[in-house]
Amino acid sequence: MLAEGFSVALPTETVYGLAADALSPAACARIFEAKDRPLSDPLIVHIPSLDWLDRLVVASPLALTLAEKFWPGPLTLVLPRKIMVPDIVTAGQETVAVRMSSHPIFQKVVQNFAKPLAAPSANRFGRISPTTAAHVLSELDGRIGLILDGGPCTHGIESTIVHVLDDRLQILRPGPITEDDLRIFANVFHGPAGVATPGGLMSHYAPRTKLVIEENPTPHGPRNGLLSWTRNGTGFYQTEFLSQSNNLQEAATRLYGAMRRLDGAGLDLIIAEALPESGIGVAIMERLRKAAA
Ligand code: TXA
Ligand code: MG
Repeated sequence: MLAEGFSVALPTETVYGLAADALSPAACARIFEAKDRPLSDPLIVHIPSLDWLDRLVVASPLALTLAEKFWPGPLTLVLPRKIMVPDIVTAGQETVAVRMSSHPIFQKVVQNFAKPLAAPSANRFGRISPTTAAHVLSELDGRIGLILDGGPCTHGIESTIVHVLDDRLQILRPGPITEDDLRIFANVFHGPAGVATPGGLMSHYAPRTKLVIEENPTPHGPRNGLLSWTRNGTGFYQTEFLSQSNNLQEAATRLYGAMRRLDGAGLDLIIAEALPESGIGVAIMERLRKAAA
């Protein structure tokens, strides 16, 4: 199906992606169509092997160091594009986002395909990323021809995205590779500069139910749900526990599934308990703030 220009949902170690031939503009257009994604939002290109890096981008020594250290894995590098990358992939920007997935099924598919695959998260635009095949089905049923079920995703939130500058890294999206992991290799800074980040839209990762973040959640009404980090859920209509053992990694893995269940429970408000902003907690809180916006 990929060779014929169709899109296919594939598991990765972060979230499920909707993949298509990254070098075919027509195939990539099918991704935008299935997701209702605006053409102004560029795609991440997933490469089968490291030798593709040089063909697609201008890779600085720092970029190569990061690729060797963190690939395959949940780190996306934004680098100057080469001419081979179609405009539809970059949304006309001069940079392209590249990563190499460590998921064994994704790897097998992309290596057999032997070309890069463009793959955004396999959800409708602006909605919660899928971490199981069933989530993909609920988002894109009838719009895509195939989902490869690889079980639940290990990380559960999307890759860290960094804009690689000569001697510095700009974190465009926090994720499983943390600021501390990256600081070993270069200075790290946050915030907007130099590169357009459409996914930085405030409304990303949104459930349909209103969501607020509180330090010490208490119910405001009879049909409130709790997204719990330490609380026991007394007084709440429904509670989803992110990690009974206070493990941030487990909380990340469970986050989107828990949000989906609460969103489907007919609640009038979801109250998310604030998590500690250390390690992957930074990425979890960023997703919760966007869900609340
Ligand atoms: O973990 C992940 O990264 C997953 C899996 C499937 O690989 N993919 C993913 O893709 O999260 P997507 O499209 O849902 O999110 C990618 C984000 C978007 O917000 C997009 O705007 C941004 O990356 N992006 C893509 N190319 C960019 C570029 N050249 N410069 C800046 N931001 C870019
Ligand atoms: Mg996405």
